Amino acid sequence: MGWDRPYESRFLSVDPAAQRFRVNRRCFADATVFEEEKRKILYRSWLYLCHESEVANRNDFLVREILDKELLVTRDAAGEVNVFYNTCTHRGALLCRSKAGNRKAFGCPYHGWTFSAAGRVLTRNADTGYRADADADGAYSLKRVPRLEKRAGFYFINFDAEAVSLDEFLGDAGERIDILDEHSTGGLEVIGYHEYSISGNYKMMCENSYDGYHLMPTHGSYFTYQKAMLEGLPQRALGGFALSLTNGHATVETDIVSGRPIAQWLPVWGAAAHDLIEAKKLELIERLGEKRAHQLGQTNRLMVIFPNTVMNDQQSIQIRSVLPVGHDKMITRAWLLGPRNEDPELRRVRLEGALSFLGPGGFATPDDIEMLELCQRGYNMGGVEWNDISKGFEAGEETARGTSFWNNELHLRAYWTQYDKMMSAS
Ligand code: FES
Ligand SMILES: [Fe+2]
Repeated sequence: MGWDRPYESRFLSVDPAAQRFRVNRRCFADATVFEEEKRKILYRSWLYLCHESEVANRNDFLVREILDKELLVTRDAAGEVNVFYNTCTHRGALLCRSKAGNRKAFGCPYHGWTFSAAGRVLTRNADTGYRADADADGAYSLKRVPRLEKRAGFYFINFDAEAVSLDEFLGDAGERIDILDEHSTGGLEVIGYHEYSISGNYKMMCENSYDGYHLMPTHGSYFTYQKAMLEGLPQRALGGFALSLTNGHATVETDIVSGRPIAQWLPVWGAAAHDLIEAKKLELIERLGEKRAHQLGQTNRLMVIFPNTVMNDQQSIQIRSVLPVGHDKMITRAWLLGPRNEDPELRRVRLEGALSFLGPGGFATPDDIEMLELCQRGYNMGGVEWNDISKGFEAGEETARGTSFWNNELHLRAYWTQYDKMMSAS
Protein backbone atom coordinates (compact mmCIF):
# COMPACT_ATOMS: atom_id res chain seq x y z
CA MET A 1 0.00 0.00 0.00
CA GLY A 2 1.46 3.35 -1.00
CA TRP A 3 1.38 6.72 0.77
CA ASP A 4 -1.72 8.32 -0.71
CA ARG A 5 -3.16 10.32 2.20
CA PRO A 6 -1.94 12.34 5.21
CA TYR A 7 -0.83 10.37 8.27
CA GLU A 8 0.02 11.54 11.80
CA SER A 9 1.36 9.57 14.78
CA ARG A 10 3.56 10.31 17.80
CA PHE A 11 6.56 9.70 15.53
CA LEU A 12 5.67 10.55 11.93
CA SER A 13 3.95 13.34 10.09
CA VAL A 14 3.34 12.48 6.46
CA ASP A 15 1.57 14.58 3.86
CA PRO A 16 2.01 13.15 0.36
CA ALA A 17 0.28 16.05 -1.39
CA ALA A 18 2.76 18.50 0.17
CA GLN A 19 5.71 16.13 -0.46
CA ARG A 20 6.40 16.09 3.26
CA PHE A 21 7.67 13.16 5.34
CA ARG A 22 8.84 14.06 8.83
CA VAL A 23 10.13 12.25 11.92
CA ASN A 24 9.56 13.57 15.41
CA ARG A 25 12.78 14.42 17.24
CA ARG A 26 11.50 12.76 20.40
CA CYS A 27 12.70 9.52 18.76
CA PHE A 28 16.26 10.75 19.40
CA ALA A 29 15.91 12.92 22.47
CA ASP A 30 13.39 11.35 24.83
CA ALA A 31 14.55 8.75 27.37
CA THR A 32 11.01 7.39 27.83
CA VAL A 33 10.67 6.80 24.08
CA PHE A 34 13.96 4.90 24.21
CA GLU A 35 12.62 2.66 27.00
CA GLU A 36 9.48 1.99 24.95
CA GLU A 37 11.65 1.27 21.92
CA LYS A 38 13.62 -1.33 23.82
CA ARG A 39 10.40 -3.19 24.68
CA LYS A 40 8.67 -2.84 21.34
CA ILE A 41 11.55 -3.02 18.87
CA LEU A 42 14.97 -3.95 20.21
CA TYR A 43 13.92 -6.94 22.32
CA ARG A 44 11.68 -8.21 19.52
CA SER A 45 13.92 -7.86 16.46
CA TRP A 46 16.74 -10.00 15.11
CA LEU A 47 20.02 -8.42 16.23
CA TYR A 48 23.46 -9.15 14.80
CA LEU A 49 25.57 -11.35 17.08
CA CYS A 50 28.75 -12.47 15.32
CA HIS A 51 30.28 -14.03 12.23
CA GLU A 52 30.89 -17.78 12.21
CA SER A 53 34.65 -17.25 11.71
CA GLU A 54 34.85 -15.73 15.21
CA VAL A 55 34.04 -19.15 16.68
CA ALA A 56 35.54 -21.21 13.88
CA ASN A 57 36.91 -24.11 15.97
CA ARG A 58 35.45 -26.41 18.58
CA ASN A 59 35.61 -24.79 22.05
CA ASP A 60 36.15 -21.28 20.63
CA PHE A 61 34.17 -18.71 22.58
CA LEU A 62 33.53 -14.98 22.76
CA VAL A 63 31.64 -12.65 25.05
CA ARG A 64 29.44 -10.05 23.38
CA GLU A 65 27.29 -7.27 24.73
CA ILE A 66 23.85 -7.07 23.12
CA LEU A 67 21.60 -4.29 24.47
CA ASP A 68 22.03 -4.51 28.26
CA LYS A 69 22.97 -8.22 28.28
CA GLU A 70 26.36 -9.88 28.30
CA LEU A 71 26.23 -13.03 26.23
CA LEU A 72 28.58 -15.99 26.02
CA VAL A 73 28.88 -17.49 22.53
CA THR A 74 30.52 -20.91 22.26
CA ARG A 75 31.18 -23.57 19.67
CA ASP A 76 30.85 -26.76 21.65
CA ALA A 77 32.61 -30.13 21.33
CA ALA A 78 29.94 -31.30 18.88
CA GLY A 79 30.56 -28.28 16.64
CA GLU A 80 27.27 -26.51 17.50
CA VAL A 81 27.16 -22.77 18.16
CA ASN A 82 25.38 -21.76 21.37
CA VAL A 83 24.52 -18.42 22.92
CA PHE A 84 24.00 -18.19 26.68
CA TYR A 85 23.42 -15.44 29.20
CA ASN A 86 26.88 -15.06 30.72
CA THR A 87 25.75 -15.68 34.28
CA CYS A 88 26.33 -18.67 36.53
CA THR A 89 23.14 -20.60 37.27
CA HIS A 90 24.16 -21.06 40.93
CA ARG A 91 23.99 -17.53 42.32
CA GLY A 92 24.53 -15.37 39.35
CA ALA A 93 28.20 -14.39 39.08
CA LEU A 94 29.39 -13.34 35.67
CA LEU A 95 30.82 -16.59 34.38
CA CYS A 96 33.34 -15.72 31.69
CA ARG A 97 35.47 -12.61 32.14
CA SER A 98 37.62 -12.99 29.01
CA LYS A 99 36.60 -11.41 25.71
CA ALA A 100 37.39 -14.44 23.54
CA GLY A 101 39.50 -17.59 23.40
CA ASN A 102 39.31 -21.38 23.34
CA ARG A 103 38.10 -23.34 26.37
CA LYS A 104 36.62 -26.76 27.00
CA ALA A 105 35.02 -25.60 30.24
CA PHE A 106 34.02 -22.41 32.02
CA GLY A 107 34.68 -22.16 35.77
CA CYS A 108 32.69 -19.78 37.91
CA PRO A 109 35.00 -17.64 40.05
CA TYR A 110 32.60 -17.53 43.04
CA HIS A 111 31.96 -21.11 44.30
CA GLY A 112 33.68 -23.02 41.55
CA TRP A 113 30.91 -24.61 39.49
CA THR A 114 32.11 -25.52 36.02
CA PHE A 115 30.16 -25.70 32.77
CA SER A 116 30.87 -27.32 29.42
CA ALA A 117 30.91 -25.29 26.18
CA ALA A 118 27.45 -26.80 25.56
CA GLY A 119 26.28 -25.22 28.83
CA ARG A 120 25.94 -28.36 30.99
CA VAL A 121 27.13 -28.43 34.63
CA LEU A 122 30.36 -30.46 34.80
CA THR A 123 31.26 -30.13 38.48
CA ARG A 124 29.98 -28.31 41.56
CA ASN A 125 33.22 -28.20 43.51
CA ALA A 126 31.51 -30.06 46.38
CA ASP A 127 31.78 -33.60 47.74
CA THR A 128 28.66 -33.28 49.85
CA GLY A 129 25.33 -31.48 49.84
CA TYR A 130 24.04 -32.27 46.34
CA ARG A 131 22.22 -35.24 44.87
CA ALA A 132 24.31 -36.90 42.19
CA ASP A 133 21.55 -36.41 39.60
CA ALA A 134 20.72 -32.78 40.48
CA ASP A 135 21.35 -31.57 36.93
CA ALA A 136 19.94 -34.62 35.13
CA ASP A 137 17.13 -32.54 33.62
CA GLY A 138 19.43 -29.64 32.67
CA ALA A 139 17.80 -27.30 35.19
CA TYR A 140 21.20 -25.84 36.09
CA SER A 141 22.54 -25.65 32.56
CA LEU A 142 23.49 -22.21 31.30
CA LYS A 143 20.41 -20.38 30.10
CA ARG A 144 20.11 -19.89 26.36
CA VAL A 145 19.00 -16.73 24.58
CA PRO A 146 15.61 -17.71 23.11
CA ARG A 147 16.54 -17.59 19.43
CA LEU A 148 19.77 -18.01 17.45
CA GLU A 149 19.76 -18.32 13.66
CA LYS A 150 22.27 -17.88 10.86
CA ARG A 151 22.26 -16.46 7.35
CA ALA A 152 25.31 -16.97 5.10
CA GLY A 153 27.68 -17.26 8.06
CA PHE A 154 26.21 -14.30 9.99
CA TYR A 155 24.58 -15.18 13.33
CA PHE A 156 21.64 -13.16 14.65
CA ILE A 157 19.75 -13.51 17.94
CA ASN A 158 16.28 -12.59 19.08
CA PHE A 159 15.16 -12.25 22.70
CA ASP A 160 11.56 -12.90 21.64
CA ALA A 161 10.84 -16.64 21.59
CA GLU A 162 7.74 -15.99 19.44
CA ALA A 163 9.54 -13.98 16.75
CA VAL A 164 9.24 -14.96 13.07
CA SER A 165 12.25 -16.83 11.64
CA LEU A 166 15.39 -14.88 10.72
CA ASP A 167 14.78 -15.56 7.02
CA GLU A 168 11.25 -14.19 7.24
CA PHE A 169 12.46 -11.14 9.16
CA LEU A 170 15.22 -10.45 6.61
CA GLY A 171 12.80 -10.78 3.69
CA ASP A 172 14.32 -9.29 0.54
CA ALA A 173 17.50 -8.36 2.46
CA GLY A 174 18.47 -12.02 2.92
CA GLU A 175 19.57 -12.47 -0.65
CA ARG A 176 21.86 -9.43 -0.32
CA ILE A 177 23.52 -10.98 2.72
CA ASP A 178 24.12 -14.11 0.66
CA ILE A 179 26.04 -12.01 -1.89
CA LEU A 180 28.61 -11.08 0.75
CA ASP A 181 29.44 -14.71 1.25
CA GLU A 182 30.17 -15.13 -2.48
CA HIS A 183 33.41 -13.12 -2.40
CA SER A 184 35.30 -16.40 -2.28
CA THR A 185 34.52 -20.08 -2.32
CA GLY A 186 36.10 -20.40 1.14
CA GLY A 187 33.76 -17.90 2.82
CA LEU A 188 34.66 -14.85 4.87
CA GLU A 189 36.62 -14.21 8.03
CA VAL A 190 36.86 -11.33 10.48
CA ILE A 191 40.13 -9.47 9.89
CA GLY A 192 39.76 -6.40 12.10
CA TYR A 193 37.62 -4.69 14.71
CA HIS A 194 36.89 -1.11 15.72
CA GLU A 195 34.84 0.25 18.58
CA TYR A 196 34.01 3.85 19.41
CA SER A 197 31.39 5.67 21.47
CA ILE A 198 29.36 8.59 20.21
CA SER A 199 27.20 11.10 22.09
CA GLY A 200 24.17 10.47 19.96
CA ASN A 201 21.16 8.22 19.44
CA TYR A 202 22.02 4.90 17.76
CA LYS A 203 19.46 5.34 14.98
CA MET A 204 21.50 8.22 13.59
CA MET A 205 24.40 5.87 12.88
CA CYS A 206 22.02 3.66 10.89
CA GLU A 207 20.71 6.65 8.94
CA ASN A 208 24.23 7.88 8.31
CA SER A 209 25.64 4.55 7.15
CA TYR A 210 23.65 4.55 3.90
CA ASP A 211 22.95 8.24 3.50
CA GLY A 212 24.13 9.29 0.05
CA TYR A 213 22.89 12.85 0.50
CA HIS A 214 25.56 13.91 3.02
CA LEU A 215 28.62 12.74 1.11
CA MET A 216 29.86 15.93 -0.54
CA PRO A 217 29.21 18.45 2.25
CA THR A 218 30.40 16.20 5.10
CA HIS A 219 33.32 14.46 3.44
CA GLY A 220 34.88 17.28 1.39
CA SER A 221 38.41 16.37 2.46
CA TYR A 222 37.94 12.80 1.22
CA PHE A 223 36.75 13.93 -2.18
CA THR A 224 39.75 16.25 -2.53
CA TYR A 225 42.00 13.28 -1.76
CA GLN A 226 40.02 11.03 -4.09
CA LYS A 227 40.39 13.52 -6.94
CA ALA A 228 44.17 13.34 -6.58
CA MET A 229 44.02 9.54 -6.30
CA LEU A 230 41.98 9.22 -9.52
CA GLU A 231 44.11 11.70 -11.48
CA GLY A 232 44.44 10.58 -15.09
CA LEU A 233 41.73 7.89 -14.87
CA PRO A 234 38.51 8.21 -16.90
CA GLN A 235 35.92 10.27 -15.01
CA ARG A 236 32.58 8.61 -14.31
CA ALA A 237 29.33 9.96 -12.94
CA LEU A 238 28.20 8.10 -9.86
CA GLY A 239 25.18 5.98 -10.85
CA GLY A 240 23.12 3.96 -8.44
CA PHE A 241 19.86 3.49 -6.57
CA ALA A 242 18.23 3.11 -3.18
CA LEU A 243 16.05 0.05 -2.68
CA SER A 244 13.84 -0.75 0.29
CA LEU A 245 13.84 -4.42 1.19
CA THR A 246 10.73 -5.04 3.34
CA ASN A 247 10.44 -4.89 7.17
CA GLY A 248 12.43 -1.63 7.38
CA HIS A 249 15.60 -2.96 5.76
CA ALA A 250 17.06 -1.11 2.77
CA THR A 251 20.14 -0.84 0.61
CA VAL A 252 21.87 1.88 -1.33
CA GLU A 253 23.94 0.61 -4.23
CA THR A 254 26.25 2.76 -6.34
CA ASP A 255 29.10 2.45 -8.80
CA ILE A 256 32.56 2.34 -7.29
CA VAL A 257 35.04 5.05 -8.09
CA SER A 258 37.28 4.58 -5.07
CA GLY A 259 38.84 1.19 -5.88
CA ARG A 260 38.45 -2.19 -4.28
CA PRO A 261 40.73 -5.18 -3.78
CA ILE A 262 38.57 -7.59 -5.71
CA ALA A 263 37.61 -5.64 -8.79
CA GLN A 264 38.96 -2.16 -9.22
CA TRP A 265 42.63 -1.29 -9.21
CA LEU A 266 43.98 2.16 -8.45
CA PRO A 267 47.49 3.28 -9.46
CA VAL A 268 48.33 4.33 -5.87
CA TRP A 269 48.21 0.65 -4.86
CA GLY A 270 51.20 -0.20 -7.07
CA ALA A 271 51.79 -2.63 -9.93
CA ALA A 272 51.90 -5.76 -7.74
CA ALA A 273 48.22 -5.38 -6.86
CA HIS A 274 47.15 -4.78 -10.47
CA ASP A 275 47.44 -8.31 -11.85
CA LEU A 276 45.97 -9.87 -8.73
CA ILE A 277 42.92 -7.62 -8.88
CA GLU A 278 42.37 -8.31 -12.57
CA ALA A 279 42.68 -12.06 -11.98
CA LYS A 280 40.17 -11.85 -9.12
CA LYS A 281 37.73 -10.02 -11.37
CA LEU A 282 37.94 -12.79 -13.98
CA GLU A 283 37.53 -15.47 -11.32
CA LEU A 284 34.30 -13.80 -10.14
CA ILE A 285 32.90 -13.63 -13.69
CA GLU A 286 33.74 -17.27 -14.33
CA ARG A 287 32.24 -18.44 -11.05
CA LEU A 288 29.17 -16.21 -10.80
CA GLY A 289 28.43 -14.91 -14.29
CA GLU A 290 28.76 -11.32 -15.55
CA LYS A 291 25.73 -9.88 -13.77
CA ARG A 292 26.37 -11.25 -10.30
CA ALA A 293 30.11 -10.60 -10.58
CA HIS A 294 29.36 -6.98 -11.46
CA GLN A 295 26.97 -6.62 -8.53
CA LEU A 296 29.51 -8.15 -6.16
CA GLY A 297 32.66 -6.57 -7.50
CA GLN A 298 31.66 -3.30 -9.14
CA THR A 299 29.08 -1.79 -6.79
CA ASN A 300 29.22 -0.30 -3.33
CA ARG A 301 26.40 -1.82 -1.34
CA LEU A 302 25.39 -0.11 1.89
CA MET A 303 22.62 -1.94 3.71
CA VAL A 304 20.85 -1.41 7.02
CA ILE A 305 19.07 -4.32 8.64
CA PHE A 306 16.43 -2.78 10.87
CA PRO A 307 16.89 -1.77 13.66
CA ASN A 308 20.65 -1.56 14.35
CA THR A 309 22.78 -3.65 11.97
CA VAL A 310 24.76 -2.14 9.12
CA MET A 311 26.23 -4.41 6.43
CA ASN A 312 28.47 -2.48 4.04
CA ASP A 313 30.52 -3.74 1.13
CA GLN A 314 32.61 -0.86 -0.14
CA GLN A 315 36.39 -0.34 0.28
CA SER A 316 36.05 -3.37 2.49
CA ILE A 317 33.27 -5.48 3.95
CA GLN A 318 32.24 -3.96 7.23
CA ILE A 319 29.49 -5.07 9.61
CA ARG A 320 28.43 -2.57 12.23
CA SER A 321 26.24 -3.40 15.18
CA VAL A 322 25.26 -0.21 16.92
CA LEU A 323 24.84 -0.67 20.66
CA PRO A 324 22.35 1.76 22.16
CA VAL A 325 23.60 2.84 25.58
CA GLY A 326 20.85 5.37 26.21
CA HIS A 327 18.67 7.68 24.18
CA ASP A 328 21.66 9.95 23.51
CA LYS A 329 24.64 7.62 23.61
CA MET A 330 25.78 4.72 21.43
CA ILE A 331 28.77 2.48 20.94
CA THR A 332 29.54 1.50 17.36
CA ARG A 333 31.16 -1.91 16.96
CA ALA A 334 32.56 -2.52 13.48
CA TRP A 335 33.97 -5.79 12.20
CA LEU A 336 36.03 -5.85 9.02
CA LEU A 337 35.74 -8.98 6.94
CA GLY A 338 37.68 -10.36 4.03
CA PRO A 339 37.68 -13.56 1.98
CA ARG A 340 39.42 -16.44 3.71
CA ASN A 341 42.77 -17.25 2.10
CA GLU A 342 42.99 -13.83 0.43
CA ASP A 343 46.30 -13.04 -1.24
CA PRO A 344 48.43 -11.01 1.25
CA GLU A 345 48.81 -8.16 -1.25
CA LEU A 346 45.04 -7.90 -1.72
CA ARG A 347 44.57 -8.17 2.04
CA ARG A 348 46.96 -5.24 2.45
CA VAL A 349 44.90 -3.16 -0.01
CA ARG A 350 41.69 -4.19 1.75
CA LEU A 351 42.94 -3.21 5.20
CA GLU A 352 44.34 0.06 3.91
CA GLY A 353 41.01 0.91 2.25
CA ALA A 354 39.08 -0.03 5.38
CA LEU A 355 41.29 2.05 7.65
CA SER A 356 41.62 5.08 5.45
CA PHE A 357 37.88 5.54 4.87
CA LEU A 358 35.69 3.86 7.50
CA GLY A 359 38.30 3.39 10.25
CA PRO A 360 37.88 5.46 13.43
CA GLY A 361 40.72 7.72 12.21
CA GLY A 362 39.81 7.43 8.52
CA PHE A 363 38.49 10.04 6.12
CA ALA A 364 34.83 9.28 6.75
CA THR A 365 34.20 8.25 10.34
CA PRO A 366 35.47 11.29 12.30
CA ASP A 367 33.49 13.57 9.96
CA ASP A 368 30.38 11.47 10.44
CA ILE A 369 30.72 11.30 14.22
CA GLU A 370 31.02 15.07 14.35
CA MET A 371 27.78 15.41 12.36
CA LEU A 372 25.88 12.92 14.54
CA GLU A 373 26.97 14.71 17.72
CA LEU A 374 25.92 18.05 16.22
CA CYS A 375 22.50 16.56 15.43
CA GLN A 376 22.12 15.25 18.98
CA ARG A 377 22.94 18.70 20.35
CA GLY A 378 20.28 20.08 18.05
CA TYR A 379 17.72 17.56 19.34
CA ASN A 380 18.62 18.03 23.00
CA MET A 381 17.92 21.76 22.96
CA GLY A 382 14.24 21.07 22.18
CA GLY A 383 11.90 23.70 20.73
CA VAL A 384 11.94 22.17 17.24
CA GLU A 385 9.77 19.14 16.69
CA TRP A 386 10.53 17.58 13.32
CA ASN A 387 13.31 16.15 11.14
CA ASP A 388 12.65 16.05 7.42
CA ILE A 389 13.29 13.01 5.22
CA SER A 390 11.23 14.00 2.17
CA LYS A 391 13.92 13.97 -0.50
CA GLY A 392 12.51 12.07 -3.47
CA PHE A 393 9.15 11.44 -1.76
CA GLU A 394 6.24 11.14 -4.13
CA ALA A 395 2.55 10.60 -3.49
CA GLY A 396 1.78 6.87 -3.72
CA GLU A 397 5.34 5.82 -2.82
CA GLU A 398 5.59 2.14 -1.86
CA THR A 399 7.99 2.87 0.97
CA ALA A 400 8.47 -0.71 2.12
CA ARG A 401 9.35 -1.98 -1.36
CA GLY A 402 10.36 0.97 -3.45
CA THR A 403 13.30 2.11 -5.51
CA SER A 404 14.69 5.58 -5.91
CA PHE A 405 17.81 7.57 -6.85
CA TRP A 406 20.75 6.75 -4.53
CA ASN A 407 20.93 10.11 -2.82
CA ASN A 408 17.22 10.42 -2.14
CA GLU A 409 15.82 9.45 1.27
CA LEU A 410 13.53 6.53 0.38
CA HIS A 411 15.60 4.12 2.50
CA LEU A 412 15.24 6.38 5.55
CA ARG A 413 11.48 6.46 5.03
CA ALA A 414 11.50 2.65 4.90
CA TYR A 415 13.35 2.53 8.24
CA TRP A 416 11.05 5.01 9.93
CA THR A 417 7.88 3.47 8.53
CA GLN A 418 8.84 0.19 10.18
CA TYR A 419 9.79 2.03 13.37
CA ASP A 420 6.41 3.74 13.49
CA LYS A 421 4.61 0.46 12.76
CA MET A 422 6.26 -1.34 15.67
CA MET A 423 6.07 1.57 18.10
CA SER A 424 2.43 2.32 17.31
CA ALA A 425 1.33 -1.31 17.75
CA SER A 426 -0.59 -1.91 20.97
S1 FES B 1 27.75 -18.11 41.69
FE1 FES B 1 28.78 -19.42 40.37
S2 FES B 1 29.38 -21.08 41.58
FE2 FES B 1 28.27 -19.81 42.90
FE1 LIG C 1 29.56 9.64 5.99
